[in-house]
Amino acid sequence: MKTPVRIAVTGAAGQINYSLLFRIASGELFGPKQPVILHLLEIPQAMDHLQGIVMELEDCAYPLLYAIHPTHDPNVAFRDVDYAFLIGARPRGPGMKRADLLDANAQIFATQGQALNQHAHRNVKVLICGNPANTNCLVAIANAPELDSKNFTAMTRLDHNRAISMLAHQCGVLTSDIKCMTVWGNHSCTQYPDVYHAKVKGKPAIQLIDEQWVIDTFVPTIQFRGAEIIKIRGQSSAASAANAAIDHMQTWVNGTAHGDWASMAVPSDGIYGISKDLVFSFPVTCKNGGYEIVPDLEINKISNERLKLSEKELQEERKQIKNLLRNRK
Ligand code: NAD
Ligand code: LMR
Repeated sequence: MKTPVRIAVTGAAGQINYSLLFRIASGELFGPKQPVILHLLEIPQAMDHLQGIVMELEDCAYPLLYAIHPTHDPNVAFRDVDYAFLIGARPRGPGMKRADLLDANAQIFATQGQALNQHAHRNVKVLICGNPANTNCLVAIANAPELDSKNFTAMTRLDHNRAISMLAHQCGVLTSDIKCMTVWGNHSCTQYPDVYHAKVKGKPAIQLIDEQWVIDTFVPTIQFRGAEIIKIRGQSSAASAANAAIDHMQTWVNGTAHGDWASMAVPSDGIYGISKDLVFSFPVTCKNGGYEIVPDLEINKISNERLKLSEKELQEERKQIKNLLRNRK
């Protein structure tokens, strides 16, 4: 057995975590030889509820789950952690945009960025899922000046998986037959699921599908899928979000397969003309625990307009929380 890894998970008593925690503890994230220690963060009012979840985790008798530390103190939750899943935040309800959550949620990520900065392992890998995820990630980075900004990523993997699933269905193939899907931009309705580089069984997807279907049906369906689920289920996506969080972290740690990539929202370095002060979803390849944005993709006029629209929305969000960005130049 290896040395246990410490994994902080916030919002531990919430919906997403009712799936995520059990999947991490069972070994699904890091494999059957990697013990885990869970640091579970909640707000004080939810600690009783969290205690019930801790009891359920214990009752699973997972051999890899070495310890569980529930707490409402971020300074305790993030001590020496190797991985952090920042899930805890208010979800949106019917009719809301994700950006409507900025006022309620952004401060959480300032506080947690500071606690990570002080207490986490210097190579900690942080996944921000709480919405609006890209801008919350920007806030966390700004408040963790002693950590490399490349340690921080936000989750667009759910959108990526949705796009793969819909394209596979349209082409009558398995999801594993789809490669090089890309979701660009903000995890919002301006996100741009791009099939122009995607491959279906090795062939360019765009040769197999009608471009008008892409524009009229595929793109808006993926953009509004989260809202559609809230409308039908009455609550935001949870099990599929937990699944995407596992996929995202696994890809980051274990790498992308040869000839494929994944979508991750990461700090822009100016590539594809996207402003440097934003967290933007790009196609990335992962190797040796790091990621690189896929360079030199040809971006057609339709795609470029969509990227710019999402960039503009992220710039607006950035303005709204600029008072929380003061800790990093
Ligand atoms: P939920 O309301 O069921 O759970 C959120 C939990 O976070 C609650 O238990 C709450 O007490 C806790 N919490 C609130 N503030 C906290 C803080 N400061 N520290 C620690 N815990 C805190 O919500 P959920 O359905 O689990 O969703 C969580 C977040 O994830 C929401 O913002 C939602 O919009 C977002 N989300 C993102 C994606 C994505 O693809 N990026 C997908 C699904 C949901
Ligand atoms: C999703 O995409 O399902 C989540 O971001 C939840 C939401 O608010 O749509």
